[in-house]
Amino acid sequence: MTRHDERFVRYLKSKEVVDDRALHRPTMSTLVDELSDRADARPGEPLRVVSVGAGTGAMCRRFLSWGVFDAYDDVKYVMVDRRKGMADRAAAAFAEWSQEAGWEAAPTVDGFQIERHGRRVSLTYVTGDLFDATVVLPKAIDLAIAHAVLDVLPLNRAIESLVSRLTEDGLFYAPITFDGRTTFRPSHNADDEILDAYHDSMEDENSSGAETGSDLLSALPMADTSILSAGGSDWVVHPPYSDEERFFLSRILGFVKESVGSNGGVGETTLRGWLDTRHKQLEAEELTYVAHNLDVLAKLD
Ligand SMILES: C[S@@+](CC[C@H](N)C(=O)[O-])C[C@H]1O[C@@H](n2cnc3c(N)ncnc32)[C@H](O)[C@@H]1O
Repeated sequence: MTRHDERFVRYLKSKEVVDDRALHRPTMSTLVDELSDRADARPGEPLRVVSVGAGTGAMCRRFLSWGVFDAYDDVKYVMVDRRKGMADRAAAAFAEWSQEAGWEAAPTVDGFQIERHGRRVSLTYVTGDLFDATVVLPKAIDLAIAHAVLDVLPLNRAIESLVSRLTEDGLFYAPITFDGRTTFRPSHNADDEILDAYHDSMEDENSSGAETGSDLLSALPMADTSILSAGGSDWVVHPPYSDEERFFLSRILGFVKESVGSNGGVGETTLRGWLDTRHKQLEAEELTYVAHNLDVLAKLD
């Protein structure tokens, strides 16, 4: 992994606490109810989950810690991410977590398995593009998860490829899907210019763009699914910060710098002045950041 990748992994780790409090609980409760009904209707069957753009697998660890999969004794969880080296980082994160959480971990031919109190989760990592991976996956996914990733994908194509692999009544869960609003406080006179350029940079022929969260609400029903639940999962980070939150905010400023800087629409002096001010405010524990996201849960019709 390059230093850039290492920093990205560190960012994903710092994002976990921000996601923990942001996730829309009514939508997660609906997911838990759906999984429970599904387990009752198909006794003895495992839960087969595919998570695309899975990073280090934070959502799987969170779901196991929070009891979201408790209706199942047997979970088969496939993670797909195209970034090389992420599989090793995921394995390391699961090894550390499983030890702390009291799960016994053992390697398998294509990943590893964790077990606790008679419950078994087999974890497989696929390093590759989700569009290639979904083609070869059997049409046997009970739950497809796209966590904080749909905004960097062509939305309809991503939905279509995942929905096409769902089993009958299969579920599609898209938590922390960016939805077009970024705010920093205190306000700065270049905010509009910088943040408009930041949002514009998210849109090209391969990315769904800044309003992916809202777009999901119309795209999913057109893909033979019905929305069961949806709601805001905004990131809100304000002082005083934990170390993780401080790092998270520094990376968000880094993302603004990289995307607005390469976009060319904002003058260099304006961008540099805005970033200097924001970094000083971060240092002085004065910076507040809000990003609007949506969580959406849908079911195959
Ligand atoms: C913002 S990260 C989110 C990671 C993880 N879901 C989380 O929230 O912790 C998005 C991830 O999607 C992956 N990704 C982006 N496009 C992808 C594609 N076409 N196929 C597979 N993975 C992709 C990236 O490599 C990155 O790890």
